[in-house]
Amino acid sequence: MARKKASSVKKKPATTKVAAPAAEKAASVEEKAISAVTETAPTEEKKEPAAKETVSAEKKTAPVAEKAAPAEEKKVSAVKETVPAAEKTAVAAEKAASPEEKKELPVKKTVSAKEKTVPAAPEAPPVEEKKKTPAKKTAPAKEKMDPAAAKTTPAEGKKRTSAKKAASAEEKAVSAAAKAVPAKGKKRTSAKKAASVEEKSAPAAVEAASAVEEVSAVNVMSNLPRRSVAFIGSECHPFVKTGGLGDVMYALPRELVRLNCDVRVILPRYACIPQKYQDQMVYRGEFYMDLGKTGRNYYVGIMEYVCDGVVYDFIDNQEFFSSGNPYLNLVDDIPKYCFFSKAALAALNYLNWIPDIVHCHDWQAALVPVYLRTLFQDSPIGHARSILTIHNLRFQGIYNIPTIQYWSGLPDSVFGMGALKENYVDANMLKGGLAYADRITTVSGTYAYEIQTAEYGEHLENHLRYHSGKLRGIVNGIDYGMWNPETDSALTVHYNRDTVLEHKMENKLALQKELGLEEDAGKFVIGLISRLTNQKGLDLVSSIIPQVLDGNTQVVVLGTGDKQYEDTFRYYEGANRGTFSACIQYDEARAHRIYAGADALLVPSRFEPCGLTQLNAMHYGTLPIVRETGGLKDTVQPYNIFTGDGNGFTFDRYDAGLLLDAINRAKTLYFTNRDQWNQVVRRDMEKDVSWENSAKQYKDLYLELTQW
Ligand code: ADP
Ligand code: GLC
Repeated sequence: MARKKASSVKKKPATTKVAAPAAEKAASVEEKAISAVTETAPTEEKKEPAAKETVSAEKKTAPVAEKAAPAEEKKVSAVKETVPAAEKTAVAAEKAASPEEKKELPVKKTVSAKEKTVPAAPEAPPVEEKKKTPAKKTAPAKEKMDPAAAKTTPAEGKKRTSAKKAASAEEKAVSAAAKAVPAKGKKRTSAKKAASVEEKSAPAAVEAASAVEEVSAVNVMSNLPRRSVAFIGSECHPFVKTGGLGDVMYALPRELVRLNCDVRVILPRYACIPQKYQDQMVYRGEFYMDLGKTGRNYYVGIMEYVCDGVVYDFIDNQEFFSSGNPYLNLVDDIPKYCFFSKAALAALNYLNWIPDIVHCHDWQAALVPVYLRTLFQDSPIGHARSILTIHNLRFQGIYNIPTIQYWSGLPDSVFGMGALKENYVDANMLKGGLAYADRITTVSGTYAYEIQTAEYGEHLENHLRYHSGKLRGIVNGIDYGMWNPETDSALTVHYNRDTVLEHKMENKLALQKELGLEEDAGKFVIGLISRLTNQKGLDLVSSIIPQVLDGNTQVVVLGTGDKQYEDTFRYYEGANRGTFSACIQYDEARAHRIYAGADALLVPSRFEPCGLTQLNAMHYGTLPIVRETGGLKDTVQPYNIFTGDGNGFTFDRYDAGLLLDAINRAKTLYFTNRDQWNQVVRRDMEKDVSWENSAKQYKDLYLELTQW
């Protein structure tokens, strides 16, 4: 990705202040955090001797952080030092980068990135400067704003009167932030200060934001205790989605609003977000932030969109987020998400919206808990507790240590084996986040167990076992507003539990027509909606397709991903016109029509943290055929031929023969005992796969972490 050259020198932003916490305080907080960890899993100590190292290392945090206040000369020498180290580690980094594409040699990139950083200068002109002139008027630029101190601009002061009218989420957030204070005795004064600043600075934004709110009556259970939560993650439906993370980032905040949570979702403002949403975003402000050892001040714009009680704040920076795809390759993604994680916290400080909980998702936001307890410890956001949710352990953000040090600017103390250090050459962002987060969750109970084993642990099993005291599994749900066959605008004919049998047939015929399959309601239609990657068990599927296509069965695949799978499925389509359809595309509406029109849905994953497609399928009366792993095991009870109980068809070992057997069991029931099949269809549609229960568990976790 081309990084634009800076054009003029900007004053060092006040983030420097944040980077230099009072040494004693920082050390003692770290000590507490570490000792809590030690208590929870003492038996692991032997395996992770570095944990002890971390305790003493953490004591050094503050001075190191202080040093981090970037003196220009220091940076230059650091750059020089870094290059040979990066050179040495390039090979290992290449290996580590396996989950994502590697397009360039890390060394080259590191060097050139540094070359570009001198002299320090501001960003390319922010997007909204060009596009959002009217929005700018409502909230003038706050250049050189100190993101930690977040002082009120005069313009904001003036708007105070109009703000009073907007008794909204923002005000509640202030009180929630104020509530958080007593629990942290010593910090009461500064937190109060933060809250009062918020009262002053919020108005203009609230007013602006309310102008774009898509009003919909959210049924908030206001009798429940209130908590404020900042979700930080890399994707969210309907703005940007590549998989289930996007669904969760959409659905869970909405459910938490109902449970009386004040939720803000912090996301990158990718250029690929549909224009429709870009147009509705409202400018909330901007500031400049230093980043790692780059010696530059980076533009951070905040664009806001409010919908159904959830506030979405998009971190704007064209240099990092201008690509058509959120994920590129690690060479670009490591700097991008270092920037994003730091900017998200700085933005919360800037907005003076200090949540009780910062809830981070996957490796892209995994540095947030680390920043929170180091560079941001003594800023207002340092009061928040943190949760890190693992949606997929396979992706960890691993790169050579000098590069991650360079971009993150984190103190040396966090690069020990107890936290970010992966091995002699590499650092692991997810590993660091897991060490520093107050709680770790993953998206099903079985996956929480599995990731502590060598088979599923992706080399982090020891680390996770060490932190098992703060790890738990909470299974995902689906949003019943987004996934509802009774109202789904993508469907030909709507249906519910009572009308499913008749209308599902019509959806099947419509799907067959749409995809050029033989139009015959009597055929057994199997769907597969998936990222086409090694995780999803596609080698099993491709090896049994000839046996599955028996003349009475049709297969529909919808997905994009690895070329080998795309080509295999294209081949099968070519060889089996009318019975096999390969839709190598990402198409949300078509996915809905496949859930509705298919009889069964395949999810034979090698591993599956939770899986949402089996939940969508069940809710649409489509029976899942799944491998018993992760969330698939927790959500699909195998059909029992003797009792008639169950929701779908399952197999245990990762084996093509067992998958074929499960498919054949499904076919047998479908073709020989349709009454039984239909009963399972109705049962699946009735099954509670909503977010209600799981959101309550997250709320309980928030309460557990914030008892006052
Ligand atoms: P993962 O997050 O591992 O990709 P999940 O089952 O959790 O798997 O979530 C996948 C989500 O992405 C589901 O909402 C599914 O409908 C959707 N999806 C996957 N591939 C496609 C596609 N090609 N077109 C439309 N939606 C898709
Ligand atoms: C990940 C997992 C998937 C899970 C989703 C949402 O992408 O692969 O199993 O459902 O995240 O949590």
